[in-house]
Amino acid sequence: MASMSFLSNQMACNKNSSWVEFGGTSRRLVGIERCGAARVSGLKVFASQSARTQPDLSVSVNGLKMPNPFVIGSGPPGTNYTVMKKAFDEGWGAVISKTVSLDAAKVVNVTPRYARLRAGANGSAKGQIIGWENIELISDRPLETMLKEFKQLKEEYPDRVLIASIMEEYDKAAWEELIDRVEQTGVDAIEINFSCPHGMPERKMGAAVGQDCALLEEVCGWINAKATVPVWAKMTPNITDITQPAKVALRSGCEGISAINTIMSVMGINLNTLHPEPCVEGYSTPGGYSAKAVHPIALAKVMSIAQMMKAEYGGKDYSLSGIGGVETGGDAAEFILLGSNTVQVCTGVMMHGYGLVKKLCAELQDFMTMHNFSSIEDFRGVSLQYFTTHTDLVQRQQAAIQQRKAVRKGLQSDKDWTGDGFVHETETMVSN
Ligand SMILES: Cc1cc2nc3c(=O)[nH]c(=O)nc-3n(C[C@H](O)[C@H](O)[C@H](O)COP(=O)(O)O)c2cc1C
Repeated sequence: MASMSFLSNQMACNKNSSWVEFGGTSRRLVGIERCGAARVSGLKVFASQSARTQPDLSVSVNGLKMPNPFVIGSGPPGTNYTVMKKAFDEGWGAVISKTVSLDAAKVVNVTPRYARLRAGANGSAKGQIIGWENIELISDRPLETMLKEFKQLKEEYPDRVLIASIMEEYDKAAWEELIDRVEQTGVDAIEINFSCPHGMPERKMGAAVGQDCALLEEVCGWINAKATVPVWAKMTPNITDITQPAKVALRSGCEGISAINTIMSVMGINLNTLHPEPCVEGYSTPGGYSAKAVHPIALAKVMSIAQMMKAEYGGKDYSLSGIGGVETGGDAAEFILLGSNTVQVCTGVMMHGYGLVKKLCAELQDFMTMHNFSSIEDFRGVSLQYFTTHTDLVQRQQAAIQQRKAVRKGLQSDKDWTGDGFVHETETMVSN
């Protein structure tokens, strides 16, 4: 079944348009519609029976239609035209660019800027990568170049969703200029990086804003007064209560929340040289942690945000994008079960390549088939109801024990012995 869905994805996401037939009427499908089309029941163009019955992965988020919920998270996988084009060609639901700012000349990267944590004995060099630290800054490519590439991508893929990740200094005019220039390229939405943990806080950017609710409210106000496309606010996990900035961002006009950016980390100290990693001229600085190791932490943060959104904004069309350590369809299903509309992948793409989306789609469809879910909305947020407080867990457990005792069947008196299976009959006796 998995290989069939790979095939249907490829066919459905081919860049050329196709004619399909819905209940006797033909119409032309392009771009986004076409990528989701293989999942529409009654579709006759693709002959395979299993392709017709595959669960529908398409999603509609803040008015944006995507063939599947898998989004390239901001970072190296969205850093230039070539890689973003590759993402569209492979079938990703949407692409978020590497974060851009007005003056790339102020962004100076170092090498090395990555360090990895491997599973296995003593961090064996051959072990599976489970954690990834980076001290990479936002895009160091000239804004003009990035804008040209956004425009070209939107011209070539008008029906696919391109989201620009942006970040600026604490300056209203700078934010307004950046939003204006980015929107002119035709991007479909904007994600605000309020969460980069390193480098930029010195310039009152990234996490410096996301960790300060008063600052965040002011900057979100400027952004939302200017932006004409949906705005997602990307949250930092490096804060005591992530629901506070998420609430402020929604209250200040953002349409969606993305969580999480990387977690502040020190990957390790080299026990031979005594210098920290990644080591730049003998020194290091704390960086951002990502990949599989952060997935449980990301789930907890997304769960808290989803609970807050349900309690305070239930029924409103706000969106949630889950991020952190996604490498399988099951990882993505977990974010969706907690209420995410979309799921972003960054380090997973760096490790496994853009083709990963086909595996993610197939595995998510296998999960949906197993539970008889026909669409993402069928199970979005379903597991949120099973989270409660520890006090409530204790009360529930005590009530359950009382109930089990009350219904327990067992021998009540000597007249009940049957003579068959004394051992079993004694085990059923209630001890009070
Ligand atoms: C090398 C690298 C560079 C990143 N650059 C950015 C960035 O420019 N802007 C941003 O918002 N997030 C950036 N991120 C964070 C990711 O988008 C994502 O939030 C985080 O890595 C967790 O997801 P993951 O485990 O799928 O990578 C970067 C992550 C990595 C690993």
